[in-house]
Amino acid sequence: MTATLARSTPSCANRRPVADSRAPDGAGSFARDLAVALAATPKRLSPKYFYDAAGSRLFEEITRLEAYYPTRAEMEILATFGAEIGARLPAGGALVEFGSGSNAKVRLLLAALRQLRVYVPVDISSDFLAEQARALAADHPALEILPLVADFTHPFTLPPAVRRGPVTGFFPGSTIGNFEPPEARAFLSDARASLGPGAAMLVGVDLVKERAVLEAAYDDPQGVTARFNRNVLARANRELGTDFDLSAFRHRAFFDAAAGRVEMHLVAEVAQQVRLGGRIYRFAAGESLHTESSYKYTPDGFRALAQAAGWRPERVWLDGARRFSLHLLAS
Ligand code: SAH
Ligand code: AVI
Repeated sequence: MTATLARSTPSCANRRPVADSRAPDGAGSFARDLAVALAATPKRLSPKYFYDAAGSRLFEEITRLEAYYPTRAEMEILATFGAEIGARLPAGGALVEFGSGSNAKVRLLLAALRQLRVYVPVDISSDFLAEQARALAADHPALEILPLVADFTHPFTLPPAVRRGPVTGFFPGSTIGNFEPPEARAFLSDARASLGPGAAMLVGVDLVKERAVLEAAYDDPQGVTARFNRNVLARANRELGTDFDLSAFRHRAFFDAAAGRVEMHLVAEVAQQVRLGGRIYRFAAGESLHTESSYKYTPDGFRALAQAAGWRPERVWLDGARRFSLHLLAS
């Protein structure tokens, strides 16, 4: 996240997302990464490709499901401890949110963030980012909102307006769990460099718990998570002209306790093939495309990871049922 190409947003262009001109979230990188994923053994694709506008809406539907506890648990932490969290953060600063989605969580924090000057929601899902930034701006007209379309797995530059005061990073949702642990550490280390000296960071992290609760959260009876998972194939059909038969792939989610992660897969029900960019890729019956890992941590396990990335863990808050954690890190 240290190298650079994003253009900064003049404040008159407030709320119109600025794209990093190198942001590798376009059709080109999707086609390339999907081709690599389909040719690999085992087949595996980055979860960042779930999030086109349809994927963002499906994720929002997931957050409203009874079985998907992480959103409610983190909102409970923010609602309960918001004032205490705000008091520990510097006044008059900037907040940079990684993977901002619907902005629902920052809305809970805004009242507690004293004289927040600038809010930079960063997301790969450009249309959804723009729509959500407009809605937030309508409710908070005095706040400077500088939405940034970027892929946070690659270097990008923050708008200069961020640097005019103290900076806080906000990475809620346990999206950090979608990285492999070494990538999570690299992300945290890059974020520390990019947010600058004296920055703080608030990270939402889902906790290890019973298998049944975890597996229900990723395989809901309404089938919303299955639709979210299959959306990556639907998106490839829409954007890349592939011919995936969505009905021929089964959604599978399971907790691997030894690895500490929930895995999501799309499993080919029968042997089949798919065409992408003039090439044919084959699935054997039962072969899967691994679409997401969602790592779960203990509070101590995450503190150790943050420390290894150069942060100083300051405080951790849990929800009443101890399902989810919110860590405050200092640099
Ligand atoms: N922060 C919200 C949304 C979490 S869903 C919450 O806590 O509910 C994950 C969000 O991260 C989505 O909005 C998705 O579009 C975004 N995202 C996923 N991978 C990304 C990437 N590589 N770069 C930027 N944004 C990404
Ligand atoms: C965004 N991310 C943290 C979610 C998760 O729980 O791993 C995405 C998700 N996948 C299935 N349900 C929700």
